Amino acid sequence: MLKKGNVRSNQVLLFARNFLKNPRAVGSIIPSSPFLIRSMLAQVRWPEARVLVEYGPGTGSVTREILANMAPDATLISIEMNEEFVRNLTQRFPDPRLRVVRDSAANVRDVLRRYGFESADYILSSLPFANMPVSLRGQILWETSQAIGPSGALVLYQYSPRLESTLGPIFEHVDRDLVLRNFPPALCYRCSR
Ligand SMILES: C[S@@+](CC[C@H](N)C(=O)[O-])C[C@H]1O[C@@H](n2cnc3c(N)ncnc32)[C@H](O)[C@@H]1O
Repeated sequence: MLKKGNVRSNQVLLFARNFLKNPRAVGSIIPSSPFLIRSMLAQVRWPEARVLVEYGPGTGSVTREILANMAPDATLISIEMNEEFVRNLTQRFPDPRLRVVRDSAANVRDVLRRYGFESADYILSSLPFANMPVSLRGQILWETSQAIGPSGALVLYQYSPRLESTLGPIFEHVDRDLVLRNFPPALCYRCSR
């Protein structure tokens, strides 16, 4: 049986190995810090969150905390492009509330429909938007704005404020928080219509 510390270092190694294989898509060499994850999750009103979507779960550091906070009858759909991450997440989290989907966040509305949902209450993104072509970035953010319900929100983090010029025209309300206890320091955004 593997000890907790060994499991954590295996996940860190898996993350770093995939960063080295595809740095632009993975976007960071280590997973988000507990402080950044806490700041993201503080943006969610858990009693109202029935359908949650996660973009870019990677090795599941945010996934684990979403599952720990969400209601027993809520659903989490985690959308990840990387095949190895998808396999690892599916094995590590045999939670009946979780669906791990190998797809692009750009197809979020199709993914929601596949599972019988019209919209999501919350979308939590770890995507490295700064590394994407401008058109893909715009497409994902637009699709996301159409996929969240009227009282829902998109929560995301970035390492620079550059994305704000794209978020502004798509979302009516954009609030941000600076999280210094992360490597590198990050900006956490809550965007709603
Ligand atoms: C910075 S990692 C985040 C990992 C983890 N959630 C965290 O915060 O530590 C970004 C993840 O986004 C995934 N990704 C990149 N582009 C994507 C896309 N268009 N759709 C879904 N996942 C994507 C990458 O494979 C990677 O796992």
